[in-house]
Amino acid sequence: MKNPIKGKNGEYLLTLAIETSCDETSAAVLKNGREVLSNVISSQTELHKKFGGVVPEVASRKHVENVDMVIQEALDLAGVSFKEIDQIGVTYGPGLVGALLVGVSVAKAMAYALNIPLIGVNHIEGHIYANFIEDPQLQPPFLCLIVSGGHSHLAYVKDYGEYEIMGKTRDDAVGEAFDKVARAIGLGYPGGPLIDQLAKKGNPEAIYFPRVYLENGSLDFSFSGLKSAVLNYLHTQRQKGKEIIVENVAAAFQQAVIEVLVNKTLEGARRKGADKIVLAGGVAANSALRQTLKMEAEKIGIKVKYPSLDLCTDNGAMIGCAAYYNYLKGYTADLYLNAVPNLKLGEVYENKTNYPQPHVHQIVDENVDNGDKR
Ligand code: KG4
Ligand code: ZN
Repeated sequence: MKNPIKGKNGEYLLTLAIETSCDETSAAVLKNGREVLSNVISSQTELHKKFGGVVPEVASRKHVENVDMVIQEALDLAGVSFKEIDQIGVTYGPGLVGALLVGVSVAKAMAYALNIPLIGVNHIEGHIYANFIEDPQLQPPFLCLIVSGGHSHLAYVKDYGEYEIMGKTRDDAVGEAFDKVARAIGLGYPGGPLIDQLAKKGNPEAIYFPRVYLENGSLDFSFSGLKSAVLNYLHTQRQKGKEIIVENVAAAFQQAVIEVLVNKTLEGARRKGADKIVLAGGVAANSALRQTLKMEAEKIGIKVKYPSLDLCTDNGAMIGCAAYYNYLKGYTADLYLNAVPNLKLGEVYENKTNYPQPHVHQIVDENVDNGDKR
């Protein structure tokens, strides 16, 4: 896709992106959609570790403390000033409502003050778009497996912003299952990377955990049964006074997850005749998933792509990339933009006013006028 829109500098668009949907405060500056000038991530992992998971209220407060500094650092690293920014993209869902509201409020205030367009970005879409940054040549269509702490989707990406959801989880997200099993075997938080490491030392065949495929032909996922099977195994072993080899539990659990993910993804690719599979989301960092999917897909002539590790976890750059393509489609938001904790992939923010091409300042001027009349 060509860039038909020129920024303030007369050449390219500069996007400032803000991401605060969970426990990472992040801001990035991008030149057009795919060139990252800066991507600053302030992680709260250490803060939440002692609670064994993200505490929403604590996350929101930390975002409030950090967000200004993170934005300033992103601008400084990119070597640009506020005035040079052409547009602001922000994650408005899905995620923790209080956490999302911090980014959304800051983005709205900045878009208003700078009189530039505001673009609301779907976090799941952001994860997919991390791949466009990783590989500047990548173009839709492709099949995408999105696996993170809060979501598991198998989506056929027909074009930029056009998705056919072929499958999704009916209960736990994949990352959630990793984190819960990690907690049960006494690992820290977040559990995914720790299971990934521990599984390398274990024997995946030592224990058999169920592979849940659901009804015939379904590409949906279900991981809560597998998680319960692991918990039952641990309980039984303890009751019988038998040794628990955590390396084997990690390896066997991980293998059960990966087998289902890979088989369903390959089936999805077959149904669509896709020649490319793209991985996205925090669990896309899993080394065994990356290797297995690549190996199995290549056997049937399908290419597999995934982002580098720092683009797999939550970051502002992926939000900036999605914001750019949304902007090209005319999806700008007004100042009524709000956090939508359960936003679905493919949902587009609808402006509340009738401006054909919403510009932030027009909408706000109208509100001010109304106020003055009262
Ligand atoms: O995408 P993400 O940063 O946040 C959400 O949007 O949810 O994903 C975080 C999830 C956590 O559950 C974490 O345990 C998991 O990704 N994760 C991993 C790995 N790295 C992160 N899971 C398995 N293997 C990994 N290497
Ligand atoms: Zn995420």
